[in-house]
Amino acid sequence: MSGISIIGVGNMARALGTRALAGGNAVEVIGRDAARAKELASALGGATAGTTGTALAGDIVILAVPYASAAAVVREYGDALDGKVIIDITNPFAPGLMRLDTPDGSSVAQEIAKVAPAGAHVVKAFNNLFANVLAAGPAEGHPVDVFIAGDDAAAKAAVSAFIESLGMRPLDTGPLPMARVLEEASLLEMGLLANAVKHTNFSLGINILS
Ligand SMILES: NC(=O)c1ccc[n+]([C@@H]2O[C@H](COP(=O)([O-])OP(=O)(O)OC[C@H]3O[C@@H](n4cnc5c(N)ncnc54)[C@H](OP(=O)(O)O)[C@@H]3O)[C@@H](O)[C@H]2O)c1
Repeated sequence: MSGISIIGVGNMARALGTRALAGGNAVEVIGRDAARAKELASALGGATAGTTGTALAGDIVILAVPYASAAAVVREYGDALDGKVIIDITNPFAPGLMRLDTPDGSSVAQEIAKVAPAGAHVVKAFNNLFANVLAAGPAEGHPVDVFIAGDDAAAKAAVSAFIESLGMRPLDTGPLPMARVLEEASLLEMGLLANAVKHTNFSLGINILS
């Protein structure tokens, strides 16, 4: 069981909160609109509502905010994030959904790591899962893979344990610069959505053949 603080009260916060509670984790949700955070906590049942910009209850903090706000949120929480594992779930899509809106050779996760306290560890995860797929969770015959990337082995182990508590399979793709690849993989999904699949009820995963 992990203690999870989710910053943001939108689609991904709701989906992750639902699955996290079902997996036996303690969940805190934090919104800049305190009333909406309370509303979500109560709708999830069993979650608590935290206060913006102050101490965070969870050892794992999920940034469920738009990519353009992510670094600012990390700066705002500052030392409250020291010692925490920060999960970056964002997708920095540029208009047109065919390229990323991050500096070449970087990623939102790397930009967040630059402004996070030295004792915090950033892990990219969940950005390749549509909110509806997360909310539904895995089902018989439909396993869900979660690609992760990060520099700190202990942080990745903590995130992997959390993912397993959701009944999903964590797949470590390597150090933090691989976050760029995971963000590009979401562009692949956008291409599939627009041209091949035409709905969001699918996920990327791997088949291990031997
Ligand atoms: N939706 C998906 O299928 C999906 C899949 C994979 C990854 N993602 C990523 O997940 C993240 C969240 O997506 P979402 O669909 O949950 O978006 P959403 O429904 O629009 O929710 C975004 C949340 O972020 C909050 N927020 C925005 N700026 C903030 C700030 N400066 N400080 C604190 N909170 C702030 C918003 O608060 P207010 O309500 O107060 O504006 C809202 O609660 C995005 O980065 C997205 O790229 C989404």
